[in-house]
Amino acid sequence: MVTVFDHPLIKHKLSILRMKQTGTKQFKEIVTELSMLMGYEVTRDLQLEEMPIETPICKTTGYSLAGKKIALVPILRAGLGMVDGMLSLLPAAKVGHIGLYRDPKTYEPVEYYCKLPSDIDKREVIVLDPMLATGGSATAAIDFLKKRGAKHIKLVNIIAAPEGVEYVKSHHPDVDIYVANVDEKLNEHKYIVPGLGDAGDRLFGTK
Ligand code: PRP
Ligand code: URA
Repeated sequence: MVTVFDHPLIKHKLSILRMKQTGTKQFKEIVTELSMLMGYEVTRDLQLEEMPIETPICKTTGYSLAGKKIALVPILRAGLGMVDGMLSLLPAAKVGHIGLYRDPKTYEPVEYYCKLPSDIDKREVIVLDPMLATGGSATAAIDFLKKRGAKHIKLVNIIAAPEGVEYVKSHHPDVDIYVANVDEKLNEHKYIVPGLGDAGDRLFGTK
Protein backbone atom coordinates (compact mmCIF):
# COMPACT_ATOMS: atom_id res chain seq x y z
CA MET A 1 0.00 0.00 0.00
CA VAL A 2 1.26 3.46 -0.88
CA THR A 3 -0.25 6.40 1.04
CA VAL A 4 0.28 9.84 -0.50
CA PHE A 5 -0.73 12.72 1.74
CA ASP A 6 -3.24 15.28 0.62
CA HIS A 7 -3.32 17.76 3.47
CA PRO A 8 -3.02 21.55 3.14
CA LEU A 9 -0.50 21.83 5.99
CA ILE A 10 1.71 19.18 4.42
CA LYS A 11 1.54 20.80 0.96
CA HIS A 12 2.32 24.22 2.45
CA LYS A 13 5.29 23.05 4.52
CA LEU A 14 6.64 20.84 1.74
CA SER A 15 6.71 23.84 -0.62
CA ILE A 16 8.84 25.82 1.85
CA LEU A 17 11.14 22.81 2.22
CA ARG A 18 11.65 22.68 -1.55
CA MET A 19 12.57 26.38 -1.92
CA LYS A 20 16.29 26.82 -2.50
CA GLN A 21 16.43 29.90 -0.24
CA THR A 22 15.18 27.93 2.80
CA GLY A 23 18.12 27.76 5.23
CA THR A 24 19.31 24.90 7.42
CA LYS A 25 17.46 25.98 10.59
CA GLN A 26 14.08 26.25 8.92
CA PHE A 27 14.70 23.15 6.80
CA LYS A 28 15.31 21.11 9.93
CA GLU A 29 12.25 22.51 11.69
CA ILE A 30 10.00 21.73 8.75
CA VAL A 31 11.32 18.18 8.38
CA THR A 32 10.39 17.71 12.06
CA GLU A 33 6.93 19.20 11.56
CA LEU A 34 6.25 17.11 8.44
CA SER A 35 7.38 13.97 10.28
CA MET A 36 4.87 14.68 13.04
CA LEU A 37 2.04 15.35 10.61
CA MET A 38 2.81 12.19 8.65
CA GLY A 39 3.30 10.22 11.87
CA TYR A 40 -0.34 10.85 12.75
CA GLU A 41 -1.39 8.77 9.74
CA VAL A 42 1.46 6.24 9.91
CA THR A 43 0.32 5.28 13.43
CA ARG A 44 -3.39 5.08 12.60
CA ASP A 45 -3.48 1.26 12.83
CA LEU A 46 -1.77 0.97 16.23
CA GLN A 47 -3.68 -1.29 18.57
CA LEU A 48 -5.37 -0.03 21.70
CA GLU A 49 -6.55 -1.67 24.87
CA GLU A 50 -9.21 -0.36 27.18
CA MET A 51 -8.30 0.63 30.73
CA PRO A 52 -10.36 1.96 33.61
CA ILE A 53 -9.56 5.59 34.46
CA GLU A 54 -11.05 8.19 36.75
CA THR A 55 -11.61 11.81 35.78
CA PRO A 56 -12.27 14.50 38.41
CA ILE A 57 -15.95 13.86 37.65
CA CYS A 58 -16.39 10.06 37.43
CA LYS A 59 -14.96 6.69 36.45
CA THR A 60 -14.80 5.94 32.74
CA THR A 61 -12.98 3.85 30.14
CA GLY A 62 -9.71 5.13 28.72
CA TYR A 63 -7.36 3.66 26.13
CA SER A 64 -3.74 2.78 26.11
CA LEU A 65 -1.47 1.73 23.23
CA ALA A 66 -1.08 -2.02 23.11
CA GLY A 67 0.33 -4.48 20.62
CA LYS A 68 3.84 -4.50 19.25
CA LYS A 69 6.46 -2.08 20.46
CA ILE A 70 7.92 0.27 17.88
CA ALA A 71 11.40 0.86 16.49
CA LEU A 72 12.21 3.94 14.46
CA VAL A 73 15.03 3.34 12.00
CA PRO A 74 16.41 6.44 10.27
CA ILE A 75 18.66 5.92 7.26
CA LEU A 76 21.73 8.09 7.91
CA ARG A 77 22.23 10.86 7.44
CA ALA A 78 19.07 12.55 6.25
CA GLY A 79 16.69 10.18 8.04
CA LEU A 80 17.98 11.59 11.35
CA GLY A 81 15.99 14.74 10.66
CA MET A 82 12.75 12.78 10.95
CA VAL A 83 13.45 11.14 14.31
CA ASP A 84 12.49 13.97 16.70
CA GLY A 85 9.08 14.54 15.11
CA MET A 86 8.23 10.85 15.25
CA LEU A 87 9.63 10.46 18.77
CA SER A 88 7.46 13.29 20.02
CA LEU A 89 4.45 11.13 19.05
CA LEU A 90 6.03 7.82 20.10
CA PRO A 91 8.32 8.63 23.06
CA ALA A 92 8.72 4.96 24.03
CA ALA A 93 10.01 3.89 20.62
CA LYS A 94 13.58 2.62 20.37
CA VAL A 95 15.79 4.03 17.64
CA GLY A 96 18.04 1.96 15.38
CA HIS A 97 20.40 3.45 12.80
CA ILE A 98 21.37 2.26 9.35
CA GLY A 99 24.18 4.18 7.63
CA LEU A 100 24.04 4.17 3.84
CA TYR A 101 25.30 6.58 1.24
CA ARG A 102 24.79 6.55 -2.51
CA ASP A 103 27.97 5.99 -4.44
CA PRO A 104 28.27 9.18 -6.54
CA LYS A 105 29.21 7.21 -9.69
CA THR A 106 27.08 4.07 -9.55
CA TYR A 107 24.26 5.51 -7.38
CA GLU A 108 24.28 2.17 -5.55
CA PRO A 109 23.85 2.27 -1.74
CA VAL A 110 26.99 1.62 0.31
CA GLU A 111 26.57 0.46 3.92
CA TYR A 112 28.78 2.00 6.61
CA TYR A 113 26.85 1.54 9.87
CA CYS A 114 24.10 -0.61 11.34
CA LYS A 115 22.99 -0.65 14.97
CA LEU A 116 19.50 -1.91 15.73
CA PRO A 117 17.58 -2.65 18.95
CA SER A 118 18.34 -6.27 19.96
CA ASP A 119 14.64 -7.17 19.88
CA ILE A 120 14.04 -5.68 16.42
CA ASP A 121 12.37 -8.94 15.32
CA LYS A 122 9.58 -8.32 17.85
CA ARG A 123 8.97 -4.68 17.00
CA GLU A 124 6.97 -2.84 14.41
CA VAL A 125 9.61 -0.98 12.42
CA ILE A 126 9.21 2.47 10.89
CA VAL A 127 12.03 3.30 8.45
CA LEU A 128 12.65 7.04 8.02
CA ASP A 129 14.30 8.79 5.09
CA PRO A 130 13.16 12.09 3.55
CA MET A 131 14.12 11.01 0.02
CA LEU A 132 13.17 7.91 -1.99
CA ALA A 133 14.97 8.37 -5.31
CA THR A 134 16.03 5.14 -7.09
CA GLY A 135 14.83 3.19 -4.05
CA GLY A 136 18.23 1.49 -3.66
CA SER A 137 18.92 2.83 -0.14
CA ALA A 138 15.45 2.06 1.24
CA THR A 139 15.48 -1.43 -0.30
CA ALA A 140 18.93 -2.17 1.15
CA ALA A 141 17.83 -0.92 4.60
CA ILE A 142 14.71 -3.10 4.50
CA ASP A 143 16.89 -6.07 3.40
CA PHE A 144 19.05 -5.60 6.55
CA LEU A 145 16.00 -5.34 8.76
CA LYS A 146 14.44 -8.49 7.35
CA LYS A 147 17.76 -10.36 7.76
CA ARG A 148 17.62 -9.37 11.44
CA GLY A 149 14.10 -10.83 11.67
CA ALA A 150 11.91 -7.71 11.33
CA LYS A 151 8.54 -8.64 9.86
CA HIS A 152 6.32 -5.59 10.18
CA ILE A 153 7.96 -2.70 8.37
CA LYS A 154 6.67 0.68 7.19
CA LEU A 155 8.66 3.16 5.11
CA VAL A 156 8.12 6.92 5.56
CA ASN A 157 9.53 9.38 3.02
CA ILE A 158 8.82 13.05 2.46
CA ILE A 159 9.46 13.05 -1.31
CA ALA A 160 9.60 10.03 -3.62
CA ALA A 161 10.26 9.52 -7.30
CA PRO A 162 7.86 7.15 -9.09
CA GLU A 163 10.87 4.93 -9.92
CA GLY A 164 11.77 4.57 -6.22
CA VAL A 165 8.24 3.69 -5.18
CA GLU A 166 8.07 0.98 -7.86
CA TYR A 167 11.52 -0.36 -6.92
CA VAL A 168 10.66 -0.75 -3.23
CA LYS A 169 7.22 -2.19 -4.05
CA SER A 170 8.75 -4.79 -6.38
CA HIS A 171 11.36 -5.91 -3.81
CA HIS A 172 9.27 -5.58 -0.67
CA PRO A 173 5.56 -5.74 -1.56
CA ASP A 174 4.70 -6.30 2.12
CA VAL A 175 6.07 -2.90 3.18
CA ASP A 176 3.59 -0.02 3.38
CA ILE A 177 5.00 3.23 2.00
CA TYR A 178 3.93 6.68 3.28
CA VAL A 179 5.06 9.67 1.26
CA ALA A 180 4.11 13.35 1.41
CA ASN A 181 4.45 13.67 -2.38
CA VAL A 182 5.41 11.54 -5.38
CA ASP A 183 7.32 13.88 -7.69
CA GLU A 184 7.72 13.80 -11.47
CA LYS A 185 10.91 11.84 -12.16
CA LEU A 186 14.64 11.35 -11.58
CA ASN A 187 17.18 13.42 -13.51
CA GLU A 188 20.37 12.07 -15.13
CA HIS A 189 22.15 12.25 -11.73
CA LYS A 190 19.32 10.32 -10.06
CA TYR A 191 18.11 13.40 -8.19
CA ILE A 192 14.38 13.83 -7.72
CA VAL A 193 12.73 16.44 -9.99
CA PRO A 194 11.52 18.92 -8.78
CA GLY A 195 12.58 17.50 -5.38
CA LEU A 196 14.48 19.63 -2.91
CA GLY A 197 18.11 18.89 -3.77
CA ASP A 198 20.35 16.92 -1.41
CA ALA A 199 18.39 16.40 1.79
CA GLY A 200 21.44 15.47 3.92
CA ASP A 201 23.39 18.54 2.85
CA ARG A 202 20.43 20.87 3.36
CA LEU A 203 19.69 19.39 6.78
CA PHE A 204 23.25 19.52 8.09
CA GLY A 205 24.55 22.53 6.14
CA THR A 206 27.33 20.58 4.48
CA LYS A 207 27.19 22.33 1.11
C1 PRP B 1 20.01 10.29 0.18
C2 PRP B 1 18.68 10.09 0.86
C3 PRP B 1 18.45 8.62 0.71
C4 PRP B 1 19.08 8.32 -0.62
C5 PRP B 1 17.99 8.18 -1.64
O1 PRP B 1 21.05 9.94 1.01
O2 PRP B 1 18.66 10.55 2.18
O3 PRP B 1 19.05 7.85 1.74
O4 PRP B 1 19.92 9.42 -0.96
O5 PRP B 1 18.50 7.78 -2.85
P1 PRP B 1 18.17 6.35 -3.47
O6 PRP B 1 16.71 6.12 -3.31
O7 PRP B 1 18.57 6.53 -4.92
O8 PRP B 1 19.01 5.32 -2.79
P2 PRP B 1 22.58 10.11 0.58
O9 PRP B 1 23.05 8.84 -0.07
O10 PRP B 1 22.73 11.37 -0.21
O11 PRP B 1 23.31 10.19 1.95
P3 PRP B 1 23.18 11.31 3.10
O12 PRP B 1 21.83 11.17 3.73
O13 PRP B 1 24.28 10.93 4.02
O14 PRP B 1 23.39 12.67 2.48
N1 URA C 1 19.08 12.04 -2.38
C1 URA C 1 18.71 13.30 -2.10
O1 URA C 1 19.05 13.84 -1.03
N2 URA C 1 18.00 13.98 -3.01
C2 URA C 1 17.61 13.43 -4.17
O2 URA C 1 16.93 14.11 -4.97
C3 URA C 1 18.00 12.11 -4.45
C4 URA C 1 18.73 11.43 -3.53
